[in-house]
Amino acid sequence: DIKGFIFDLDGVIALTSKYHSQAWHQIADDLGVTWTKSLEDGLKGISRMDSLEMILKAGNKENDYTEEEKIKLAAKKNDNYLALIGNMNIDDLLPGIPEFLEDLMAHNYKICLASASKNSPIILKKLNLARYFPDVVDPSKLKKGKPDPEIYIRGAELLNLKPEECIGIEDAAAGIQSINGAGETSIGIGDTQELSAADILFSSTKDITLANIEAAMKVNA
Ligand code: BG6
Ligand code: MG
Repeated sequence: DIKGFIFDLDGVIALTSKYHSQAWHQIADDLGVTWTKSLEDGLKGISRMDSLEMILKAGNKENDYTEEEKIKLAAKKNDNYLALIGNMNIDDLLPGIPEFLEDLMAHNYKICLASASKNSPIILKKLNLARYFPDVVDPSKLKKGKPDPEIYIRGAELLNLKPEECIGIEDAAAGIQSINGAGETSIGIGDTQELSAADILFSSTKDITLANIEAAMKVNA
């Protein structure tokens, strides 16, 4: 039986995925690395330093910067990002998410956040969602980021649940791979092609309801 839900944040709860992309796009331009749709998609869910490595690699520049320079570039991206989310408000919440969180609480499901973002606590606060997430995985304590399963395994541990009792919700291929690797049920939000590994796929957050999830799990059983 499903007893808990483990959420990604950027691109699942809020539109912040768009701001991460814009902030990296600025860095890629500064570095002279061509920004493509596949680079943009590949960066989703990936930690800050791993994202920088991915961008440098895309431009064959992985050996051109010292560790110190890389740390500066990553800090600049975060400054770009913080500027972009400066005006964020509840309009940046994705549709259906507050209702779904309320419904989960009403049905006593356990809820946890498994975001790679070190900014997620600020965002939960800004969007008035902190009360839904007593449990948040601290990404700075992880050995490996998504697509490694560690973050979703840790999420189930925080909830005191077995992986098979948890559903993970993600908008990124790396995140779906992490959920699947952890032995949990994966829900993808987005594009069928990009998220083909998801157990259940919804095209929009509007469709994430307990009734729709139950129906999809019956079909898959
Ligand atoms: C993930 C985002 O949630 O967090 C990525 O999908 C982002 O785009 C990653 O790079 C790390 O975020 P932050 O805020 O710690 O740089
Ligand atoms: Mg995401």
